[in-house]
Amino acid sequence: MAEFILLLTTIASVLIVAHCIEHQLIKDQELVTNYSYNSLVSFPNNVSVETTVLDLSHNNITKLETTDLNYLLRLKVLNISNNLLAELNKEIFDSNKRLEHLDLSYNKLENVSCTFPDNLRYLDISYNNFTTLSVCKGLGNLLKLEYLGFGAQQILQSDIEAISPLKLQHVFLNLDTLTHYQNGSLLMLNTDYLHLASLSMKKDIFSLLFDVVNVSESLELSNCAYVLYIENSHLTAIADNSRVINFTMNGLSLPWDLLTSILQVIWHSSVKTFKLSEFTVQGVINKLQFDYSNSSMTEVHLNNIQSKVFFFNQTILYRLFSEMNIKTLIITSANFLFMECPLKPSNFQFLDFSSNAMPDDVFQNCETLINLKTLIMADNKLQRLAKVSSMTNKMISLQHIDVSRNQLDYKEEECSWSQSITKMNLTLCSLTNSVFKCLPKNITWLDLGKNDITFVPLDITYFEKLEYLNLEFNRFFDLPDCTFFPHLIVLQVDHNQIPYPTTEFIHKCNNVSRINMEGNPFHCFCEIRTFIGEVKKSPGKMINWPEKYVCEHPDNLRGVMLADFYMPEIYCNIYILVPVIVVPIIFALVLLFIICKYCDVPWYFKMIWQWTQTKHRTRTSKSHYWELGRDFDFHAFVSYSEHDASWVKEIMLPSIEKMDNSIRICQHERNFLPGRPIVENIINCIEKSYKSIFVLSPHFVQSEWCHYELYFAHQQLFTEKTDNLILILLEQIPQYIIPSKYSRLKSLMAKRTYLEWPKEKSKHGLFWANVRAAISINLSDLHHEISQNDSQALLHDQEDNEDDQAAVSAGRTQS
Ligand SMILES: *[C@@H]1O[C@H](CO)[C@@H](O)[C@H](O)[C@H]1NC(C)=O
Ligand SMILES: *[C@@H]1O[C@H](CO)[C@@H](O)[C@H](O)[C@H]1NC(C)=O
Repeated sequence: MAEFILLLTTIASVLIVAHCIEHQLIKDQELVTNYSYNSLVSFPNNVSVETTVLDLSHNNITKLETTDLNYLLRLKVLNISNNLLAELNKEIFDSNKRLEHLDLSYNKLENVSCTFPDNLRYLDISYNNFTTLSVCKGLGNLLKLEYLGFGAQQILQSDIEAISPLKLQHVFLNLDTLTHYQNGSLLMLNTDYLHLASLSMKKDIFSLLFDVVNVSESLELSNCAYVLYIENSHLTAIADNSRVINFTMNGLSLPWDLLTSILQVIWHSSVKTFKLSEFTVQGVINKLQFDYSNSSMTEVHLNNIQSKVFFFNQTILYRLFSEMNIKTLIITSANFLFMECPLKPSNFQFLDFSSNAMPDDVFQNCETLINLKTLIMADNKLQRLAKVSSMTNKMISLQHIDVSRNQLDYKEEECSWSQSITKMNLTLCSLTNSVFKCLPKNITWLDLGKNDITFVPLDITYFEKLEYLNLEFNRFFDLPDCTFFPHLIVLQVDHNQIPYPTTEFIHKCNNVSRINMEGNPFHCFCEIRTFIGEVKKSPGKMINWPEKYVCEHPDNLRGVMLADFYMPEIYCNIYILVPVIVVPIIFALVLLFIICKYCDVPWYFKMIWQWTQTKHRTRTSKSHYWELGRDFDFHAFVSYSEHDASWVKEIMLPSIEKMDNSIRICQHERNFLPGRPIVENIINCIEKSYKSIFVLSPHFVQSEWCHYELYFAHQQLFTEKTDNLILILLEQIPQYIIPSKYSRLKSLMAKRTYLEWPKEKSKHGLFWANVRAAISINLSDLHHEISQNDSQALLHDQEDNEDDQAAVSAGRTQS
């Protein structure tokens, strides 16, 4: 039972701890509150309780109250540098148990009586107004302290002793106000790195430096112009006492001969790495003897060097460096115009001359750099790639060359690289496709980023050993031809102009393990699907897939990830497109053709069109008749040849009149009044009819009477401006049958304004509907008024029809 309870409590406590850790993780997110450069005169009162980083630097705060900080329980970083604080309350940081980083530099503090939180790792109280470093007495318990910045007018053993138990990493001392240094004080410091700044004291300087070089292996002096006042013999004594290995000087301005003598002293000291930066050379550059022997020196760094000397023998300057028997020489941003070839076989293994102004004449035919492994000449004035290659020609150990950021030009000259080169940086050199003809054969690593290359030319030799090739930010339109690099492992072609890699080149690059193609303007259409398919087949091959691979075109897909892009097969595959889209279209067209051809659809359309037209016309013409005041007894008068009489009587009249008798036709057998002359009968019939129907056939054409009837009807048409003629073409009439004198008939036939009698029975219904529509009108509506001026209308337009009249009379005499 007891065991069971124990188990339960264990589980419970594990859960609670887990919960706390989780809580802690959530709470550990940083909240940065920045009030720097805000002209604050006191602590801001709206700082969030959650704040972990508080920057109050560069303000005018004069005082901190206990209540300002005591609620900021999560505060880890507090920067109040560059303010006007003169004192700190005793309990000021008592609640900020988590405070790790405290910057109180550049204030007006004279004394500090507060207790600092135990968690402090970084404390900067440099550049204040301390008289002594009694503040240190309160720091002895800060066992986590790594960085300490301080300074005072007096440095006394008793003060420094208080912090001697601390194992510090970096100590910074501002010495601008220093007036008194008690011998041996700094020797009590326990630190890996000592940085002294602004040394401005003349008195005691020797004893200070004598101690300083014995505190740690790394020493940095900033803006310490007062080293100028140290005699050479004292310097030597200091150097002999030194255990400094890494020595850095910055912010100095020295005459050339003083610099060389200091350098000479350092050269024979314990220093292995010497760094000089933000340095200005003054005075005259003279040739001075320099003893390179007996040195521990391996590395010299010069960075950001300026010269106030304009006329001097360059060789003297360059020789000082070229003859150094060290492994590493770095001279950057120093405006060096040249560098000499060492006079005898040199120890240089690493040379970095970035950001100078060296031309490609440097190191031509230089046979002494036989140990050189790395040569960095980035950002210089190198111009011709072929000349750069001959520069390396005699460097038999050279492995890595960096000539990036030079305006290089290559005109297909002979290139003669050192055979040992394996790694090359040609970034930002304005190089074009031809660069592939001037590269070291054994290269394994090649950076050609940010150039103007569009493709790999076909007339180059294979780079059997190339494993890494960077072509980012060029102008490739497709993947490069990887067959020239059979053992390539990593290929970078990101940020080029590739809309979609073609299948051919994808396959050529199949052996490459990792490819980066992000940032290309991918064109999301059919072609890119092959690429997407290939990528999905080999996961992990594309670097930064999928989030960095997005469509650029078309506009509506811009920003869509390639991985999410989908285009149905049917849009892209012609073999599917044809059957699915083209075939149905062809089928529909054929069907339409068949329908037209065999079912005479156009005829039906024509008929329906005419029918609607007629309907429309009857509606508008009614009022016309009304105006004419005509009185009609019949809907239509029908004229036909005797030969077609049976068709008229058996088919036409029953079809038009139907059963209801609503339409009345004037047919001469039925409606002609006997005893009256035929002509009178005809005229009467035509006049009493709303329309005249003529059944045209070859027989009709040959019948005089029929033509006579047509003449009258037509006459009426012209006088009343009404198209009251309906022509039904019963049988085709060849033009030649029509006698030439019947010009009116000819012209009517030519206008094709007739209705053709369809042979197919199925079409008869619509045909008759059309005819009925043309003549259908409510005659009783027109009965109201009786016209008196018919004859007057008939006389009109007389001379126009003279030859027709002649034709009629001629015809009658004939029959
Ligand atoms: C104040 O100190 C913090 C922490 O070191 C730093 O990030 C910040 O840049 C400093 N502010 C200024 C203005 O220097
Ligand atoms: C190649 O040169 C460029 C430009 O100088 C530089 O940014 C890059 O770090 C260099 N690459 C390597 C591997 O040194």
